[in-house]
Amino acid sequence: MAAAPGSTVPVIILKEGTQRTRGREAQAANIMVAKAIAEAMRTSLGPRGMDKMLVDSFGDIVITNDGATILKEMDVEHPVAKMLVEVAKAQDEEVGDGTTTAVVVAGELLAKAEELIEKEIHPSLIIEGYKKAAAEALRILDEIGAPVDPQDKDYLVRIAKTSLASKLVGEYAEHLAKVAVEAVLKVARLENGKWKVDLDDIKIEKKEGMSVVDTMLIEGIVLDKEVVHPDMPKLVRNAKIALLDAPLEIEKTEFDAKLHIETPEQMRAFMEQEERMLKEMVDKIAATGANVVFCQKGIDDLAQHFLARKGILAVRRIKKSDMEKLAKATGGRVISRIDDLTPEDLGKAQLVEERRVGEDKMVFVEGCENPRAVTILVRGGTQRIVDEAERSIKDAINVVKDILMEPKIVAGGGAIETELALRLRDYARTLPGKEQLAVEKFAEALEIVPIQLAENAGLDPVESIVTLRSKHKEGEKWYGVDVLGNRLHDVMSLNVIDPVAVKKQVIKSAVEAASLVLKIDDIIAASKLSEKEGKKEGKKEEEEEEGSSKFD
Ligand SMILES: Nc1ncnc2c1ncn2[C@@H]1O[C@H](COP(=O)(O)OP(=O)(O)OP(=O)(O)O)[C@@H](O)[C@H]1O
Ligand SMILES: [Mg+2]
Repeated sequence: MAAAPGSTVPVIILKEGTQRTRGREAQAANIMVAKAIAEAMRTSLGPRGMDKMLVDSFGDIVITNDGATILKEMDVEHPVAKMLVEVAKAQDEEVGDGTTTAVVVAGELLAKAEELIEKEIHPSLIIEGYKKAAAEALRILDEIGAPVDPQDKDYLVRIAKTSLASKLVGEYAEHLAKVAVEAVLKVARLENGKWKVDLDDIKIEKKEGMSVVDTMLIEGIVLDKEVVHPDMPKLVRNAKIALLDAPLEIEKTEFDAKLHIETPEQMRAFMEQEERMLKEMVDKIAATGANVVFCQKGIDDLAQHFLARKGILAVRRIKKSDMEKLAKATGGRVISRIDDLTPEDLGKAQLVEERRVGEDKMVFVEGCENPRAVTILVRGGTQRIVDEAERSIKDAINVVKDILMEPKIVAGGGAIETELALRLRDYARTLPGKEQLAVEKFAEALEIVPIQLAENAGLDPVESIVTLRSKHKEGEKWYGVDVLGNRLHDVMSLNVIDPVAVKKQVIKSAVEAASLVLKIDDIIAASKLSEKEGKKEGKKEEEEEEGSSKFD
């Protein structure tokens, strides 16, 4: 409420029930939320990090160590918490790894900012200082990042392994790393001296059964579908593939139409008419020379029968995203009207075959016209393991892509963060008073990474950071926490390697989030919707299309 100038009558500008929190109080409340989220995430950092079990409102369980997934599944409500979820998402989309680190660092940046606010330093000065520190950190990363040969497969495997080591499926890191590297190298292409990788070219299918070590790379597209009719061939060589997004069915009338059928003859005539139409459709397809039909919609039983008689292999109800991948892989075109189908629209592959995988059958399309189409078929003992293996291999694929695009690495295990902190403290000394404080706090905040890794490895965090700082002062720039060996060591020599691109993005995402939160000094919250209204809203969100992740 406020009073209009010259009047004592209060002017009500907010709706009844609206809550308003301002200034310090608002900042403190927001920072508290961010700290709570970071707190929840930090125990899952690194190879000795714990896993989280998340149970949603339907009772479905997800067990994961993946930061982005934890945040997504937590289903947080507070707007600041939602902002952190956005940070993790951005990190995930940009580089695919480092989501836990980004959120933990963001939380720490805010915790340190709070200390400065208590010392009467204005948030905008803190933001300023943090931005300077971040710019300097990015510069240092460029300077000390060690260049690697992006063609060196062994080395790529080692980097992918670091990303996988911290996952639930870490024991299979070697195998998954190799599959990830193979996949990325298959789809990578050199353009004007720069590597380009389109991760859409890598399809990921998962099937419960066997073990994670049976996860394999297939050169082509794998569809989680069966051939529709038992009389159809299960294997077609030199496949010519019609890609249809029209149904091979007789469309039913939209509105209620009544048919007057009075005699058996009329009935037969009616059915013959339907049969003729379906047969015509199949004849048209066959006339183009197609021996495989991939259909996004349904295929009528009778049409299946006609297709089988022509020796055509058909699959129905294929996902739209898969149709697009098939078109890209086979060089075919997705056609919406069967009348429009011409021989030029057909895609080509050396082989289309239905194979048994686990309990189910899947359709493999191999030797595609476009060699840059691969599928990773993820296997594992239980659905939960398969799901986590899929999330982990996605991280690994991203890390390999990051290296191809920016072939530079640093040592992980908190080594790079300790080194950055050291150098940022030197840099701080060149700045005026209050900014200097902010840059120093930034340096301290980065040290949360080695501190937390040490803690998760069962080492004394305070002792560890003191030792690390002095080692780095002596010039041991890759000294970090050897989590698996429970000691401090030169972790570069132990192949604990992270891409510079991931570390850069961690800094960008964390600073961006911290600044957003710090800028808020007024929270105006509308009164809650009644439960019924709320449910309506929630439902809409749930209906989002499946598979909105980075690969679909
Ligand atoms: N063997 C190891 N010894 C020490 N540190 C390791 C080792 N393997 C990985 N790390 C470190 O663990 C950290 C990554 O942990 P983790 O993968 O749990 O989190 P993230 O990458 O930030 O998030 P997410 O993978 O969930 O997106 C990195 O700092 C990495 O260098
Ligand atoms: Mg990781």
